[in-house]
Amino acid sequence: MYNELKNQLNTQKYTWLITGVAGFIGSNLLEHLLKLNQRVVGLDNFATGHQRNLDEVKTLVHEKQWADFTFIDGDIRDPDTCKTACVGVDYVLHQAALGSVPRSIEDPLTTNAANITGFLNMLVAARDAKVKRFVYAASSSTYGDHPALPKVEATIGKPLSPYAVTKYVNELYADVFARTYDFNTIGLRYFNVFGPRQDPNGAYAAVIPKWVAGFLNKESIYINGDGETSRDFCFIENTVQMNLLSATTDNPDAVNQVYNVAVGDRTSLNTLFDEIQKRLLTRVPSLTKVSPVFRDFRPGDVRHSQADISKARRLIGYQPSHTISDGLEEAMDWYVGFFNHS
Ligand SMILES: NC(=O)c1ccc[n+]([C@@H]2O[C@H](COP(=O)([O-])OP(=O)(O)OC[C@H]3O[C@@H](n4cnc5c(N)ncnc54)[C@H](O)[C@@H]3O)[C@@H](O)[C@H]2O)c1
Repeated sequence: MYNELKNQLNTQKYTWLITGVAGFIGSNLLEHLLKLNQRVVGLDNFATGHQRNLDEVKTLVHEKQWADFTFIDGDIRDPDTCKTACVGVDYVLHQAALGSVPRSIEDPLTTNAANITGFLNMLVAARDAKVKRFVYAASSSTYGDHPALPKVEATIGKPLSPYAVTKYVNELYADVFARTYDFNTIGLRYFNVFGPRQDPNGAYAAVIPKWVAGFLNKESIYINGDGETSRDFCFIENTVQMNLLSATTDNPDAVNQVYNVAVGDRTSLNTLFDEIQKRLLTRVPSLTKVSPVFRDFRPGDVRHSQADISKARRLIGYQPSHTISDGLEEAMDWYVGFFNHS
């Protein structure tokens, strides 16, 4: 299914808007779409994204492909910016938001402004511009305190953080826009995405890049809790595939739905620590084997997370191309190169 889509896109040019294009997921979407000879408008305010991500994509595509990219340095909290960005757009891939559960606990107002007000601005602008489809980054945090495993889209619990509230509100708004304005949306509940260009720096870095930075900088690596907390880590290529298939699917039953985006596997933090360390030891001879430092559980974190991906397989034709192990191999190569050059 995905290969067919890529062949088709190579011969037909659409205009895509990626919000959050300077971020981790956004810049990977940009790279893939430009390589498929698509036209891309990107919007970002560099709140957590980086110019270096855009610069790297520029080095990975042909000059002619890069010429098909237009960047808007702007903020989704501003309705006029969203309106300008949506002009002439076929598909929106809305990624801009403030991630991180702890950030939202420390500063719920700023997270709310980007993730709810910004989201609503984008929905209105995309509806008014009559885009074909609005695909948006939802989150596995929406499962909240519901203990069932694996997670099935229809069964959610209570949110455990302001961040989780914002991502659930996104789903509610998208659903209401479908009913009220006959607008086409698809929500993607990402489960711990990882891969090249995920930011290793800052207080709110995600676990994989944070630990890689710790290993390479020879700093202590902390595990929150006993290390048996588990996640369904999903390599970025799988996430890109799901975005592109969701934007373009012509299956009427697939639209105005939310989907888990994951691999359907579960890895504990203890195992993740060993898997990362093993790969870095073979790549960086100056490193020596270390043990993690255990500390308290972090508020707002769910204990276990694993997705049922059968809905995405059935309705969207999603077939994850990378296991966590495949993804760690590619990600470690990238991080070793990144730290050598920074
Ligand atoms: N990475 C994950 O594991 C994961 C999991 C679940 C959901 N998500 C969601 O996926 C999306 C992308 O996440 P990511 O991991 O690439 O994070 P990221 O921080 O690398 O990217 C987010 C981008 O949005 C931009 N942005 C933030 N606020 C903005 C605003 N007001 N106006 C314009 N741009 C703004 C940032 O500058 C950044 O470039 C987010 O919506 C996030 O909540 C990510």
